[in-house]
Amino acid sequence: MGKEKADIQSRPYQTEFKVEDFSSAEDCKSCHPTHFAEWASSMHAYSAKDPVWLKLQQHEQAVHVEKGIELGDFCVQCHSPVAALTDAITNHESFSLSDLEALPLQIQEGVTCDICHMATHIPEPTNVITEEQSFETTDFKLFTDGTRYSILNDPIENEYHASEYHSGYDKSEFCQNCHNLSVNGVDAEVTQFEWEGTAFQAMGNECQTCHMQTYEGRAATDGPLRSDLHRHFFPGVDVQLNTANPDPEHYSAVEALLLEAAEVYINDIYHDSLINTLNLSLIISNNVGHKFPTGTTFARQLWIELSCKVNENIIFSSGFLNENGDVSDFYVDPDREIDPQLQMFNTVLYNAEGDSGLLNVGVSDMVKLSDYTLPVSGSKSVHYTVPLPDNFEGNTTTSVRLLFRSFPPFYLRFLGLNTEAERIPIFEIDQKTAQFVISQ
Ligand code: HEC
Ligand code: HEC
Ligand code: HEC
Ligand code: HEC
Ligand code: HEC
Repeated sequence: MGKEKADIQSRPYQTEFKVEDFSSAEDCKSCHPTHFAEWASSMHAYSAKDPVWLKLQQHEQAVHVEKGIELGDFCVQCHSPVAALTDAITNHESFSLSDLEALPLQIQEGVTCDICHMATHIPEPTNVITEEQSFETTDFKLFTDGTRYSILNDPIENEYHASEYHSGYDKSEFCQNCHNLSVNGVDAEVTQFEWEGTAFQAMGNECQTCHMQTYEGRAATDGPLRSDLHRHFFPGVDVQLNTANPDPEHYSAVEALLLEAAEVYINDIYHDSLINTLNLSLIISNNVGHKFPTGTTFARQLWIELSCKVNENIIFSSGFLNENGDVSDFYVDPDREIDPQLQMFNTVLYNAEGDSGLLNVGVSDMVKLSDYTLPVSGSKSVHYTVPLPDNFEGNTTTSVRLLFRSFPPFYLRFLGLNTEAERIPIFEIDQKTAQFVISQ
């Protein structure tokens, strides 16, 4: 435990900011090369340049302008806090990568070092109230007198900044201004609320435990060797899509996290001789400290790929990709004719007009959400009915894979991101095979 100064929770925090109040991450690089390199590969460094964010930001602005609603900095506040705090963006509807690149580095850097390390107080979770058009409500309690806060309780001095211990940096609540969004009190992206009250919280597994793992090293080039430093890759599910070669270390961190995220079991197989079907039930269990997926769940794809073979001939399959690389979910196959037994674990948003789905409804106009994600500390069971050839006797082989990718390609093509659509990796989270002999 560190020595926290007694007055830390009663200090003032700032309400007005200039861009120069924040340093660029480039200024931290020489003394904190490891922290810089890891952060630079993370989605936090990418959050403003993210091509999907840039396109969707424009799209949502346009959709709302048509309804007479000004979203303003709604999307900017979490994806480039320095821009929102300094009102640097005025052309939201057309705001593009080249506009971003004309702004100061602190803004381009999205969730940059100083947005986290100048926080003096734990922030509140975010709720927006659409009726009052109050969209810019993300809470930042920062103080930019140059002091950098975090969990080193005996930092050595340096000529660039003062350092101070803050116990809040070790807590999940530290992340909740950005990682917990409700709209008119309705859950939208509520990772913090999903985690609260779970066994993970009870055991002290904070967001940082899984997303900022500890290692031994030096916090600064001429600092002492320490055994409890924190990785800054912030692995989740995404890799940067604006490059053909995302950082391999960040990619491995994401892969390692995802491979432990869930398991699939073939729970039961039996032959229903009355209707001549093979009936299968699977259990998919979640190991994650929140739902899987969490956050922008409506855009994620976690699904089962299943095939059933009889003597090497495939008699049934589900969850396979079509020629465009898409899964035949209700977006691709609205009448559910191609893959009626598809099992997909995500959410669907609805708006007040009764429209639903990724292409029609965004977080800012959602009123309801159907939740098909894997529950925290829980599991889901799913069933398949496989029709068998007449009078079949012999061996069947069932193969199951639990697959994940961050976006369906059709969605990125809808946003005009064709190159990025081809870069989305698919992760195999788990796989199982089972044999079953049928005798009439
Ligand atoms: C001139 C070198 C130098 C520069 C530049 C520098 N730091 Fe540091 N920083 C240090 C040293 C040295 C420590 C203490 C390391 C130790 O004791 O292990 C430190 C400690 C920290 C801590 C830990 C504070 C605590 O008490 O837990 C944070 C956070 C931090 N720096 C953030 C930053 C950020 C953000 C930037 C860029 C805006 C930056 N630093 C730039 C040298 C530097
Ligand atoms: C027990 C470990 C664990 C804890 C605790 C944990 N996470 Fe995660 N998190 C994971 C794993 C594993 C994944 C990948 C699977 C998934 O998406 O749920 C993940 C994914 C994510 C993602 C990307 C999700 C997506 O599907 O787009 C975000 C964002 C995230 N976590 C934030 C948080 C926050 C914020 C907290 C604290 C409130 C937290 N995590 C606590 C393990 C954890
Ligand atoms: C999203 C918020 C966030 C961003 C962005 C971020 N950090 Fe951190 N950093 C943290 C948290 C939280 C901790 C403490 C983690 C804990 O105690 O569990 C930390 C710890 C540190 C420490 C203390 C040593 C350690 O590893 O524990 C240093 C130094 C540091 N960060 C530097 C940086 C620098 C430099 C950047 C930018 C290149 C940066 N951080 C970006 C949240 C952030
Ligand atoms: C200032 C807002 C902000 C804060 C504070 C913040 N995050 Fe994030 N975080 C974001 C945004 C925005 C993204 C998504 C960026 C993108 O992909 O465009 C993100 C992405 C992530 C991801 C990767 C999700 C994925 O899709 O792969 C993880 C994991 C994560 N954050 C964890 C944390 C943790 C842990 C903390 C607290 C220590 C934290 N964040 C604090 C805004 C924030
Ligand atoms: C309260 C903070 C907050 C607001 C407001 C917000 N976002 Fe995000 N956004 C996040 C966080 C945190 C993540 C990462 C969660 C995850 O990975 O599941 C994220 C993820 C995303 C992603 C996925 C990025 C990726 O690479 O997977 C997109 C796209 C996105 N946001 C667009 C938007 C748009 C457009 C708006 C405005 C309509 C918006 N966001 C408003 C915090 C916010």
